[in-house]
Amino acid sequence: MKNKILVTGGAGYIGSHTCIALHEAGYEVVVYDNLSNSSREAINRVSTLIGQTIEFIEGDVRDAELLRKVFASHEFFGVIHFAGLKAVGESVAKPLLYYNNNAGGTITLLEVMAEYSVKNLVFSSSATVYGDPEILPIDEKSKRACTNPYGQSKLTVEHILEDLTVSDDSWSLIALRYFNPVGAHPSGQIGEDPNDIPNNLMPYISQVAIGKLNKLSIFGNDYPTIDGTGVRDFIHVTDLAQGHVAALNYLDKQTRPSEDGTAQNSVGFLPINLGTGKGTSVLELVSVFSEVSGQTIPYQFTDRRVGDIASCYASADKAKNLLEWQAELSIADMCRDTWHWQSMNPNGYNLS
Ligand code: NAD
Ligand code: UD1
Repeated sequence: MKNKILVTGGAGYIGSHTCIALHEAGYEVVVYDNLSNSSREAINRVSTLIGQTIEFIEGDVRDAELLRKVFASHEFFGVIHFAGLKAVGESVAKPLLYYNNNAGGTITLLEVMAEYSVKNLVFSSSATVYGDPEILPIDEKSKRACTNPYGQSKLTVEHILEDLTVSDDSWSLIALRYFNPVGAHPSGQIGEDPNDIPNNLMPYISQVAIGKLNKLSIFGNDYPTIDGTGVRDFIHVTDLAQGHVAALNYLDKQTRPSEDGTAQNSVGFLPINLGTGKGTSVLELVSVFSEVSGQTIPYQFTDRRVGDIASCYASADKAKNLLEWQAELSIADMCRDTWHWQSMNPNGYNLS
């Protein structure tokens, strides 16, 4: 089996967990990351956890020359493309940066992949491409509509991938649409390490629990949901990591040459949700976190956050049927592992 994988953005939150899952599944990993939103320390810890030094290249996916050198010196089966910027608010303030980095970076990467005939890619898309869903659970055929430049950059990349497979049917491009990734590796050694004050719910809760932040603001309690607070499909990051292994295994199975060495199929453009299929409200998450951590989480209700939707959860059937993957871990597991990481690393990867 040709099993070497280029992992762009592999020093980041989801990428670092996926490197471990890939190693455990027998894939060899080369990480390529410009460390714009991550730390070298994450890679060091991944290396310690797997008992092997991960090959790391500090570089930008918009740097075609450096990418060429990397492709020239390795024979990759495929690429997992995590590299991207992900802060919704920042994307509204700096749309050109987001389109340049997320869409421009992907175009450069695809061009270099084409030069080296590496045609297998797993792309980090997001449930954000569905915008405010008309029907729940959300399946992959649902209408796509985004309301901010971050989401638009993801949707733009999906269109680029789709167009590319129309122009050339030798590509196999899977867009994994993540729902809400949370949690951390059970060792407590790697996890999510947001810069500044977290935008997302779970890291905010855990920083309140550890006393770095005073109080959680719950954005709205008048949504048409079970308790009036927003409902999301939280998924443990290690389950998500396994979803990437399943996607690669699927590509391997589909594109492997036939016995006589002739036929080799490609899968074209394939969007797949990675979620649990279950919705959990903000208040439910706060309550489970409090129970699991033994910490009180003070909160107050405030106005709705602009751009938020009431409910969002996946239909996880396509991933189950095609990739033979489904999420295994519970909300309590997600809270326990987040708390373990947070309490072992109150300052994240910042060791000073
Ligand atoms: P992250 O910021 O922790 O990881 C992204 C990594 O990409 C970082 O290490 C960063 O340094 C690197 N990077 C950014 N731009 C780069 C560039 N031009 N060249 C090289 N490296 C670059 O984020 P994450 O949470 O691990 O997310 C990974 C991917 O999944 C992103 O594309 C994100 O948009 C997508 N995604 C994340 C979520 C989420 O909630 N975390 C949800 C849906 C989709
Ligand atoms: C956000 C992003 C989305 C991105 C996703 C995962 C927005 C508008 N959307 O989605 O593009 O793909 O993160 O990274 O930013 N909440 C609070 N208090 C907080 C934080 C959040 O009440 O301090 C609530 C929100 O109103 C929401 C829920 O918690 O109901 C989840 O919020 P969050 O973790 O930010 O994720 P999303 O809103 O789903």
